[in-house]
Amino acid sequence: MNAIGQPLSRADGRLKVTGKAHYSADVRMEGALHASIIHSTIANGRLLVLDTAAAERAPGVVAVFTARSMPRFNPTPIPWSHLRPHGQSYLPLQDDMIHYAGQPVGLVVAHSLDQAAYAGELAKAEYELQPPMVFSADAAREAIDPPQFLWPVRTSVGDAAKALAAADVRIEQVYTTADRHHNQMEPHSTLASWDAGGTLTLVDTTQHIFGTKQLVAIVLGIPPEKINVVSEFVGGGFGGKAYVWPHTLLAAAAARVLKRPVRVQLTRAQMYSMVGHQPATIQALRLGADRTGRLRGISHESISATSVFDNYIEYAANAARFLWGASGGISTGHKIVHVNRNTPTAMRSPHEALGHFALECAMDELAYATGVDPVQLRLLNDTDNDPLTGRPFSTRGMRQCLLEGAERFGWRNRPPKPRSMGKGRYLIGQGVAGAVYTHWRWPAKARVTLNSDGSALVEAGMHDLGTGTYTVMQQVAADALGLPADKVTVHLGDTRLPESHAAIGSATMANAGAAVLLAARAARDKATGTNAGVVAEAGYDPVDEANGPKAIFSFAAVFAEVRVDEELGQVRLNRIVGAYDAGRIINPKLARSQAIGGIIWGTGQALMEQSVTDPNMGRFLHRNYSGYLVPTNSDIPELEVLFVGRPDEEASPLGTKGLGELTAVSVAPAIVNAVYHATGKRLRDLPITIEKLMGG
Ligand code: MOS
Repeated sequence: MNAIGQPLSRADGRLKVTGKAHYSADVRMEGALHASIIHSTIANGRLLVLDTAAAERAPGVVAVFTARSMPRFNPTPIPWSHLRPHGQSYLPLQDDMIHYAGQPVGLVVAHSLDQAAYAGELAKAEYELQPPMVFSADAAREAIDPPQFLWPVRTSVGDAAKALAAADVRIEQVYTTADRHHNQMEPHSTLASWDAGGTLTLVDTTQHIFGTKQLVAIVLGIPPEKINVVSEFVGGGFGGKAYVWPHTLLAAAAARVLKRPVRVQLTRAQMYSMVGHQPATIQALRLGADRTGRLRGISHESISATSVFDNYIEYAANAARFLWGASGGISTGHKIVHVNRNTPTAMRSPHEALGHFALECAMDELAYATGVDPVQLRLLNDTDNDPLTGRPFSTRGMRQCLLEGAERFGWRNRPPKPRSMGKGRYLIGQGVAGAVYTHWRWPAKARVTLNSDGSALVEAGMHDLGTGTYTVMQQVAADALGLPADKVTVHLGDTRLPESHAAIGSATMANAGAAVLLAARAARDKATGTNAGVVAEAGYDPVDEANGPKAIFSFAAVFAEVRVDEELGQVRLNRIVGAYDAGRIINPKLARSQAIGGIIWGTGQALMEQSVTDPNMGRFLHRNYSGYLVPTNSDIPELEVLFVGRPDEEASPLGTKGLGELTAVSVAPAIVNAVYHATGKRLRDLPITIEKLMGG
């Protein structure tokens, strides 16, 4: 019996299609009250008055909280770390300052959500209005050096400036990306209830139950042992559900004061100001090469927007640290601009997906400048050692991704010149881009119970974001125990289970999965020679990737073919081939689903997604699915997905490397490069909208 490698359907598929999978907002609780947030309509200034008299008298209203009545919170911890909790540092309803449009200024609690929302409309606010600070090319001139919060802010290997100055061919361009929002299908929701013994239970939409537990403990000033966080099903995390956002704290505090369960459920519009987003970037990219296309120097500098109170950095220049070798040197750096908005956060292949757009479009420009084929150019600059640390890669399937992807795509038939492929009214173009994705290594625990009837239970404080965690954990345990997969039941999403890491960074399989493997092996060993049931718990405790002997990354190459209607300025996809090295693939069906999702994310990034800010009001304008465009079925053609990696035991005992987010990286540059090949127009500002393609 070998469950690993089988294309099993989702273990929770039936629960989902029959409505029996309960997402956090589906969980009912006796006597629960509903809360609705009153928002600031201005982006910068001070709240002078919030008249809540009419709201308090409205039908069904139980309480109205403002900065006067909301209990005081403790500050959130710094510094930031993946292994510690985090949230937006500006906490709701603590003072009268206004730092962003949509900031909570009040909370109405009522017997129904409609009653609470209606009453909120009756509150009257008066503000002292300051002009908002918004992100723009002008504002970026005042960008500052941020403190480190994830990777080093600046890196330098060799002498990039000297190498660039001495290069035969130079590409120096600025690439820009738009603000974007996560737009998961499931909006955030928190149901908070306190029991008589003072224990708080949060049924929360989160990718990080343990982080939520720890952060809420700090902010509310209660011991973590007095908090349980439950998140059994998540309808898309996309990074936005890894922080603790203000509505969760409001629900917990209101429930404590009122001694009743309180639910806060965000509306779609609130998803654009309450729970993070991906900040816009302005990236200056410089490549220097010899005439044969060999890179001498790379310089990548990125500026991104953040809130006035947090130093979130979009690490876009991180891409240039690892993707290609450059003999003379590589330098990278990041700056931030504080503006009036809520705190940005990780979103759908953060950092990499933005940086690769700039780097891989610049590589395409270099291919044309040197006359070297874009696939050849990348093969030429492939590297055996991580350029930043000099360590060898554990495995690096970049070559296989490029070669096998090119073969499947039929790249060799592509005429190199722009505007040389066409069909009827359409210009056809083909583009390629390579990708590298960070492999995170985090500790995780799991418990496996092996019953005497030959069934087993896996318990881990991990999440299934819709990616298939319930299924792959079943496969891992089944093989280790020598059982068929359907004999294994998996419980996830509760802090009363063994502690796991956040479901972020495409790290679940390699780390939480490894803990399940170790716990299942321990259960099997314990069961040898007995017919009774056994329980075994195990922890996986890897060396942090940065401190290991090898550089561990996953790799990809994406090939795109577009057709462009020049008269209408419209770009349509003909086909995409993605070739991925993510080590061993545990479930090819779910892995393919991940890849399809990632390619669709990348398509949105390339052609549609943007959150435009009104410069006068400092607000995001598009606060629904009709204003914020994401790809739909009719935008997505046949997608081909190849897995070309080999098992990487140094990445994880399972041999797997990060996959999910890898698949969204370099879709956008492959599409943008294909648009250049089709039209001869080089667009450096995402998304490529009709007006940009028709203009200039
Ligand atoms: Mo991902 S943006 O690290 O959930």
